[in-house]
Amino acid sequence: MQLSQDKATAKPKSGGALTFQSLHPLFVAEASAIDLRTVEDQATLKQIHNALDEYAVVVFRDQPFRGDEQLKFAQRLDRNVNFNSTTAVFLGKGRLGYEGMIDVSNVTDKGEVWGANDRKRMSRMSNRLWHTDASFQDPAGRYSMLWAKTVPPVSAPTEFADMRAAYDALDDELKKKLEGMHAHHSSIRNKEILGFDLSLDQKDMEKLHTADHPLVRTIPRSNRRSLYIATHVTHILELPVPEGRMVLHELMEHATQRQFVFRHEWQQGDLVIWDNRATMHRRPPFDDLKYPRELVRVTTLDYPESAHA
Ligand SMILES: [Fe+2]
Repeated sequence: MQLSQDKATAKPKSGGALTFQSLHPLFVAEASAIDLRTVEDQATLKQIHNALDEYAVVVFRDQPFRGDEQLKFAQRLDRNVNFNSTTAVFLGKGRLGYEGMIDVSNVTDKGEVWGANDRKRMSRMSNRLWHTDASFQDPAGRYSMLWAKTVPPVSAPTEFADMRAAYDALDDELKKKLEGMHAHHSSIRNKEILGFDLSLDQKDMEKLHTADHPLVRTIPRSNRRSLYIATHVTHILELPVPEGRMVLHELMEHATQRQFVFRHEWQQGDLVIWDNRATMHRRPPFDDLKYPRELVRVTTLDYPESAHA
């Protein structure tokens, strides 16, 4: 799908209630006002799928989720929620109380901002590295839906990079070289890079994920080609390890140049949905020892398209 054709979806289609306003020259849109708790009709769900195919990141404002309403919406949108997150292996059961809802916060079980040496803080430090969710699983992550429950009074954004535009901008020779290559993704690679003390016994080690995926993917429906890399990658299967890591390093530098990056400044109640096959993301540093920041994430898995497709 070409960008020039995509402008057509700025108007409502499929009979749904939404419109979308572009926030960046390459990707990212903000949806018109809607309460996602009430969205059940196929026309509106299809509009959201179409917007994700086009923009890869879509912002919904003012979502008043309670309990498991965010999880329920995720299941209506994309059915196969990831209930097998590795977060629980590192940090134990989350404080939210619902399987599939991941606590992305700097707050302890007692409701206090974490301390400097908190194990959860050390584990979450890897969110500051560029990645795409659940790339170490097979099927990997498809959509992530991150909801802002508590937003600090200082800038504490999430950054996204458009991996379709990054792929398009590669020269033809490199595109040809990458064709047919596969990357090995590991759920602990990003933590090893930072020297995180895993302290896992054999039983927990067996719960950790690894998966091999093509380095370049074609996203169904939009048919756009996308670079599929992340800090979770340990090596490229078809290359010697040092050469593969250099290729990855150079691709990562290329794909995260400013022209491919959007910075989302959170407002309380935002739900941001992104396509993990088309983007990477990271959380830049903020004063996380001072201000509470509470986000909740639900991720779906990239099973073959469901009836919503
Ligand atoms: Fe993430």
